[in-house]
Amino acid sequence: MTVTGHRDELELAIEAFKQWLDTFVRLLPKPVKEGLRRYWAETGVVLDDFVYERFDAIDLLADEDAPTLEALERAIEQAQVQLTGKKSEVVRLKSSIGKLDPSERAGFAKDVQKLEKTIGYTIDNLQKYFRKEAESARTERERIDVTLPGRRPRRGHLHPITMLRERIEDIFVSLGYAIEDGREIETDFYNFDALNIPQNHPARASQDTFYTSDGFALRSQTSTVQIHAMQRRGAPVRMIAPGRVFRRDTPDPTHNPMFFQVEGLCVDRGISMAHLKGTVAEFLRRMFGAQTVTRFRPSYFPFTEPSAEFDFSCFKCNGKGCRICKNSGWIELGGSGMVHPNVLRAAGVDPEVYSGFAFGLGIDRMAALMYGLDDIRLLFENDVRFLEQFD
Ligand code: DAH
Repeated sequence: MTVTGHRDELELAIEAFKQWLDTFVRLLPKPVKEGLRRYWAETGVVLDDFVYERFDAIDLLADEDAPTLEALERAIEQAQVQLTGKKSEVVRLKSSIGKLDPSERAGFAKDVQKLEKTIGYTIDNLQKYFRKEAESARTERERIDVTLPGRRPRRGHLHPITMLRERIEDIFVSLGYAIEDGREIETDFYNFDALNIPQNHPARASQDTFYTSDGFALRSQTSTVQIHAMQRRGAPVRMIAPGRVFRRDTPDPTHNPMFFQVEGLCVDRGISMAHLKGTVAEFLRRMFGAQTVTRFRPSYFPFTEPSAEFDFSCFKCNGKGCRICKNSGWIELGGSGMVHPNVLRAAGVDPEVYSGFAFGLGIDRMAALMYGLDDIRLLFENDVRFLEQFD
């Protein structure tokens, strides 16, 4: 084997390394190239001139096409195997030294070692830099800023009518009342007849409701639950029944075809009007504050005798007169009275032994008053922007 041949192979190996460098440098975006230069300067690494030349001469990739730091790190690892590994050209050249003519051996060996050192040193330094950079890019990506405020899940809340219903329930439960869950579809018997409203009674007209074809109708009042409760529990009984009722009304700011009422019923031996007044007054004091005054006005309901409507002193102005109470100082809230003997009888309770009082009020009307709503329909539109104000 001739020395010239070996020299050619050495030249080829040098050329291959330079070509690798060219391809590699072409992959580097400008900031990476600048970072690399800075790193060499700071660490005092001195590389062969032809390495620097390539970094200066070769056009750089546009940043958006640039490979990631990890990809560059991998490219260098591959080059290390390819250019300095067991099957590399440099190793092959080294193993051929022994076959050379002794006179030329030393000079050639020196040149091969020089190339091996140049490649090794260059690759080593590139590797150090890209390992470091890829590592800090990873840490940066995976960093968790523990000082960032947490992302709070959006919490909903109960509907204002439900909140009010629950407050009313709490007050009556603490007074020893049970909560009754009535049905919304009723027969004529429960909605009218048993409540002492016979066929053709004018009270049926004002409580016109929605009928189904089978003789059923949507209940127009929660008073129906009085009958169910007495039939099921017998006397004595103390219960309230909150729930939906329906009437054939055209919606306007103060009417909706579906609304909410609470019914109250107390039946026992010796129950009098005084118990009714005491109970309603205590309920309103707990609802609107200890200063609340209650007023009863004589009225008429088919299912009570005597009957009374009740008002309470305005929670806003305390009775002085304001916009909410329309300057009267009083707010009308509901109807009440002593349960009519016909009603007790219809539900299987003996009016000679038992007496009772009943009352009923509108929850949505109360909500509209308390929250100063000009239009009751707002409560049923389910607009979150409206509802979220009641948290
Ligand atoms: N049910 C009546 C209505 O819907 C309200 C009512 C009045 C209920 C007097 C009662 C009562 O229990 O005693 O208008």
